[in-house]
Amino acid sequence: MALKGKVDAIIGAQWGDEGKGRIVDSLGDRVDIFARYQGGANAGHTVIVQGEKHVFHLLPSGMLYSGKTCVIGNGVVLDPEQLLGELSELQAKGKDRARLVISGAAHVVMPYHKKLDKAQEARRQGNKIGTTGRGIGPCYVDKYNRSGIRVEDLLDVQVLRTKLELNLDEKNELLSKIYDESPLSFDEVYRQALAWGKALAPYVDDTSLVVHTALEKGQTVLLEGAQGTLLDVDYGTYPMVTSSSPTAAGGCVGLGVAPQYIQRVFGVVKAYLTRVGEGPFPSEDKGDLGQYLRDQGGEYGATTGRPRRCGWLDMVALRYAVRINGMTRITLTKLDVLTGLNEIKVCEAYTVAGERCTEFLGNISFLENVVPEYRSFPGWTEDISHIRSFDDLPKAAREYVEYIEKITGVPVVLIGVGPGRDQMIIRGL
Ligand code: IMP
Repeated sequence: MALKGKVDAIIGAQWGDEGKGRIVDSLGDRVDIFARYQGGANAGHTVIVQGEKHVFHLLPSGMLYSGKTCVIGNGVVLDPEQLLGELSELQAKGKDRARLVISGAAHVVMPYHKKLDKAQEARRQGNKIGTTGRGIGPCYVDKYNRSGIRVEDLLDVQVLRTKLELNLDEKNELLSKIYDESPLSFDEVYRQALAWGKALAPYVDDTSLVVHTALEKGQTVLLEGAQGTLLDVDYGTYPMVTSSSPTAAGGCVGLGVAPQYIQRVFGVVKAYLTRVGEGPFPSEDKGDLGQYLRDQGGEYGATTGRPRRCGWLDMVALRYAVRINGMTRITLTKLDVLTGLNEIKVCEAYTVAGERCTEFLGNISFLENVVPEYRSFPGWTEDISHIRSFDDLPKAAREYVEYIEKITGVPVVLIGVGPGRDQMIIRGL
């Protein structure tokens, strides 16, 4: 069936924190529906509007736009406490401008998921994932185990009671007998969950149908990816990954849109590379350069406040992200952070056991043993934060961007030169 509308996807090309919220926000004028399709409150999307900073963990970044619809799709794991908190904060400021629609099929992050997440992580001595502690993994486990509680269950007193009894029986045994944690009270959790159901009820709808109807009318839907390709449960550096599919294809399942409607895939790429949590990072710089990037780029987690590990752009990983996502456009963020460096490097290939390798593999034994091969570029010293036209960038900055386009074969259509909403070079979308 041909529909008049189209779907654009914004996905993280790296290990998350590429600045996706920013890009979603800059494309906002052209979008009718903003949709989250995976992940949960582990995300932290920062948007700065009129000098005011907003951090969304669960709400789609489009909440600041009046007349738009924001969707939380079935693929999301929803923490009601977090969501309702974000919503009331926006309401208090009079900034909950969009219509919010939540899928009844989205799974609910329950208090025992968060407890289990932290307890399991503490027990993984020497093999920590560095999770955000937001209950993401345990909630997806229940989803795929077919025992999870969905948003629609919160609206049905009896169904909720039955499901919660089953779940809490098992989870309390796990918590107390394996993890030496205190069990949770059924009455407390049940009361809490009923209250969440009441508060969420006005927003619950068939989100796949909402999206489909919009597409029939010729509207534009934006898939707002959280985390990034290298954290994907299938394509990332398993097991140091998140438990969902942040890649573009994840949007089809997590929202209920057919693949043929995705027209453009915007990969958000930070001009250097960062990672939070554990896991291989071949081009990481653990010395002064890494610290410099962390300071200049404000590289501290929006969700956990943890310092991010920093290093050079990895073209092997980026070409992989282009392939996995079918990326059609690159939006390059934080180019201004590189200003002032004498030399800028990119990792072009890996050497492993004496062999040169240019293809990425999400296998951690492989990645832990690769030696990055770098290409060096001259830096620039001119302040670029006021520049709005590509041709006005210093030659060295232009060459860096053109190199990324050449190696990936994907045009760089947006370049971030500062944190403000307007600090962006637009080269045609
Ligand atoms: P989880 O998603 O909380 O289970 O964490 C799994 C891994 O994904 C950890 O290394 C986290 O640091 C990382 N992670 C999860 N969400 C984000 C994000 O939004 N940005 C960057 N890293 C993330």
